[in-house]
Amino acid sequence: MSLSPQWLDQLKDRTSLSSLIGRSIKLTKAGREYKACCPFHNEKSPSFTVSEEKGFYHCFGCQKHGSAIDWMIDYGGLDFMDAVKALADEAGMDVPAPDPQAARRAEKRASLHDVMEAAQERYAEKLRGLEGAGARGYLEQRGLSPATLTAFGFGFAPDERGGTTRELSRFEIPQLIEAGVLIDVEGKQPYDRFRGRVMIPIRDIRGRVIAFGGRVLGDGEPKYLNSPDTPLFDKGRTLYNLDKAAPAGRQTGRMIVVEGYMDAIALAQAGFHDVVAPLGTALTETQIEMLWKQVECPILCFDGDSAGQRAAMRAASRALPLLRPGHSLAFATLPAGQDPDDLLRSAGPRAFAELLERAEPLVERLWNHERAAAPLSTPEQRAALKARLNEHVRTIGDDDIRHHYNDAFRERIDTLFARAPKRYAGGGYGGGKFVGRGRGQQRGGQWKPPIPPASAALKGLNTASFDHSITRAVIAGLERFPDIANTHFEMLSDYHPVDTDLAQRLDTMLSGTPAPSKGLDPEGGYPISTTAELYNRAHGPNGVEPLIFSFNRQAAPGAAPSGDEERAKRDLCEAIRVMVERPAIEAALERATRAAETNLTEDSYAEQQRLRAVREEFDRRLADLMQDEDF
Ligand code: UTP
Ligand code: MN
Repeated sequence: MSLSPQWLDQLKDRTSLSSLIGRSIKLTKAGREYKACCPFHNEKSPSFTVSEEKGFYHCFGCQKHGSAIDWMIDYGGLDFMDAVKALADEAGMDVPAPDPQAARRAEKRASLHDVMEAAQERYAEKLRGLEGAGARGYLEQRGLSPATLTAFGFGFAPDERGGTTRELSRFEIPQLIEAGVLIDVEGKQPYDRFRGRVMIPIRDIRGRVIAFGGRVLGDGEPKYLNSPDTPLFDKGRTLYNLDKAAPAGRQTGRMIVVEGYMDAIALAQAGFHDVVAPLGTALTETQIEMLWKQVECPILCFDGDSAGQRAAMRAASRALPLLRPGHSLAFATLPAGQDPDDLLRSAGPRAFAELLERAEPLVERLWNHERAAAPLSTPEQRAALKARLNEHVRTIGDDDIRHHYNDAFRERIDTLFARAPKRYAGGGYGGGKFVGRGRGQQRGGQWKPPIPPASAALKGLNTASFDHSITRAVIAGLERFPDIANTHFEMLSDYHPVDTDLAQRLDTMLSGTPAPSKGLDPEGGYPISTTAELYNRAHGPNGVEPLIFSFNRQAAPGAAPSGDEERAKRDLCEAIRVMVERPAIEAALERATRAAETNLTEDSYAEQQRLRAVREEFDRRLADLMQDEDF
């Protein structure tokens, strides 16, 4: 069905956005708009704005933005068509009739639904009847209660080839084939696909039977047989039990994904109703998106054995390109060789609940997986870890999230290889005393100031201390490479640090007075200002995080300087550009944000977003400069 943009606009026009949203969250009138605490992220003061006039909502905190239809989808968890139908209903509008071809398809699907319902009824009856005794015994021995069997519509397909054709004779054979209950093999009469199996109906989100899974009683191959893909059933776009799990998940705020549908059923019987399962395939992109319509962070439950962990990583890799702010995955790991059904039986529901509580965030799972994937004792192996992690980071589609992952992994690497500040004595950097029990490379008088992860350093800074920190760092760099001050003379003369000491130092440098001589290192020809001294000068006053760049972090005296020096100079030039240009951007962004908050229009919104992106780009350039060159 195709809906014209005009029709959709009309629908939006006829919908009162504020009363629609006001039904779910408390809105307060603020000028021509409404304000509220954002329902899409956690916040204390309201940055969520609803504009009736413009027909959109926007959150200045999490950037969530959309129309009435988006609201029904993002907040209400509906899919597009259902959102449109619900709104049209309220607006008293008729959803345009589908084109004739689509109408025929829909009709055909409707008749397939009838086939599935009849087949389901037949299987259920067989399970209750004489022929079903063996299957009933099998299910009972698996610990499934009669109530569970009814709730999940269990059935039984007798071990014969002609039963369906005979008993569902009111349907035409081609229909039974199209529904997947008969198999059509050339040269034979079409015959029953499912024979001698316990039948588990697979339902769509509206609870209609769209396929079956059949399990052999006891041992036998294949253990499970699923319906083929049909006009009703696309296994990559279906999650088993979603019709029951979606409402349950709205209560619990949780959505659990297990590998087998028997696991989902056993868990429901044990009180976990917010559980779904894919249908014998790895989780698809579509299924991940379906889960995100329900909750922000579904918990994927995988076997702790190596196959299960490979499956977990496959799901992780699929999710990375799709990540959006606020959306992620978590991973709960089962004891090796056990599925949730086994665990419930051996350790009870409590054990499963505890396992969920210990679920790892996606970032943690990736890190733990890659860290454990290979030894890390040589520099090459460590570099390989970095490369593997980068490989994951590279695939993340969302810029913001990608940079956060980059930071998160860098921080972890720093900590893992003990590069964090805690390895150094708290007694000041002046002496540069190395105290941790060092690795060989750190001995022999090599002193390197600790490198705070770029993200942490940047995050901790407000605008003023940011300017202060970068200015300090740049000045320290210029004192080491005075010729850069000449090449960037114009840019630097237009820049006026607020801090008088810094302003003076910059002035001195630009007026051509050489910085006080430090003497020369006899070997490398370097100024002997010790690393510690440079580091201290790059430092802000108390409480201001230092920003450490290649140009204010000097190589060890005596170390071959050439490559380092090239890079340090290049970085210094880039840092100067960021330092000089960023305050203007910052000011413009502040103005634009205020303007958008006072009068939210598509234009003011777009301008605010544009400047926000520009500033992010600056921070990114800076963070890149702070990359630790050893990794
Ligand atoms: P499992 O082999 O883990 O099944 O397959 P299970 O859930 O533990 O089943 P029980 O406890 O032995 O009865 C997990 C899922 O993989 C698909 C099914 O969707 C199943 O739920 N599968 C498995 C198949 O499609 N065919 C098979 O032969 C086996
Ligand atoms: Mn099992």
